[in-house]
This record gives sequence, structure tokens and C-alpha cells, in this order.
Amino acid sequence: MSKAYDPRDRFWRKAKKEGLRARSAFKLDEIQRRFHVLRAGARVLDLGAAPGGWCQVAARAVGPKGFVLGIDLEPISRLPFPVETWVADAFSPGLLARLRTQGRAPYDAVLSDLAPKTSGVRSSDEARSLELAERALGLSLEVLKRSGVFVVKVFMGGDFESFLRRSRAAFLDVRVVRPEASVARGSKEVYLVCRGPQPLEESAPEPDGLPPAKAT
Ligand SMILES: C[S@@+](CC[C@H](N)C(=O)[O-])C[C@H]1O[C@@H](n2cnc3c(N)ncnc32)[C@H](O)[C@@H]1O
Repeated sequence: MSKAYDPRDRFWRKAKKEGLRARSAFKLDEIQRRFHVLRAGARVLDLGAAPGGWCQVAARAVGPKGFVLGIDLEPISRLPFPVETWVADAFSPGLLARLRTQGRAPYDAVLSDLAPKTSGVRSSDEARSLELAERALGLSLEVLKRSGVFVVKVFMGGDFESFLRRSRAAFLDVRVVRPEASVARGSKEVYLVCRGPQPLEESAPEPDGLPPAKAT
């Protein structure tokens, strides 16, 4: 028999106890322990960062010589140095230019825990999630250093395999991870840990230098 959904599960309680803003912090914490995606002094872009749990874990990993930029549609209440946060839409056409001029791009790591507001209609929620993951993938290829790492949330749904194929074409090494904190929720989410971005092919750029943000 499957366990009843418990919003205040052990990860929630642990987050409270450790002063972390979200139980999701333990997903990045596990990824960091297993894959060492963040090192001291690294510059990190955290997409879909509110309320700030991943920023807290990233800040701890990169230390005072690092930099963490958290971006979300929702405001993130202030976090101590080296975290900076912006209220911004990942799809905003000017975001890439702003990351380069004011956001200290390029980055050692791009993290994406982007998730849409769920509607309850599984197919459209999955499609929207995939659009967010695609956007994060496109952005990461523009702003990552050659030695950089990209961590992205994606749901095991209809188009998961094609997203995985695109990620494998874009990076030298891609691992699929299902953190314990996701398993505990019975969630279908997994994270891809992608290393070694491949050079972008020359193609006619969009106005902000990115491939189209959304399928037409
Ligand atoms: C699961 S939450 C992130 C939790 C975060 N990793 C933490 O540990 O606190 C997903 C976030 O994605 C954000 N989001 C969704 N669509 C977005 C978009 N187009 N641009 C920026 N943020 C977006 C939501 O506002 C939400 O805060």
C-alpha cells in the first residue's frame, strides 16, 4: 500500500530544523553529495529559485568567493552574500543580455528547478514543465563555461525521452538522478546532471541570441 501524502514529511521537518527555506533544498544537497556539481568559488545561476532553498545550499557549497544568482517570477526574500536574486521571467527576451552585462555570466553551474503552477491537467502540466526545461537547456548552453555543469528538473512523462536525447546531444555526459526527497513525495520528477556543454552550432540567432523560447 502506498504511503499517505504528508506535506510535513521528514525532509520538511529537517528543512525547518536547519533553517532551509524549502524541503527541495535536500534534492540539490543530495545531487551535490553524489555528483559534486558545485565547488568553492564557483559562479552559479539558479533558475526558478523561490523561495531560496537551492540558493542556500549553493551558497554553502561555493562559499564567500563564489556567486549565486537566483531568478524567479516571485520575489525571494533577502539571502546573505554571496546570493543575489532577481525577479525575472526565464522566458524574458532580454534575460540573456542582462545575465551577461549584470549577472556575471559565464557560469560554472546552471541549476533549474523551474516548475509551472500546476493546473491538475497532467498532459498540460507536463508540457509546460518541458517548455521550462527546454528554456533552461537553451540558456545553459549560452551562459555555461566549457567546463560547466547543468542540473535540470524534468518529469518522466511523454516527452522525457526526447528531452533526454537533446540533452545528450548537447552535453558530453548526462546522468539521470531521482533524489530521495523526490521519491518520498512519490513524484515523477527526476534531475539530469549534464556536464561538458558542446559548442553551439552556428545558426541565425534570435533577437536575444537564443533559440525560440516556445514551440509555435
Ligand atoms: C519548485 S519551485 C523552486 C524551489 C527552489 N528550488 C527552492 O529550493 O526554493 C519552482 C519555481 O519556478 C518558478 N518559475 C516558474 N516559471 C518560471 C519562469 N517562467 N521564470 C522564472 N521562474 C519561474 C516558480 O515561480 C517557482 O518558484
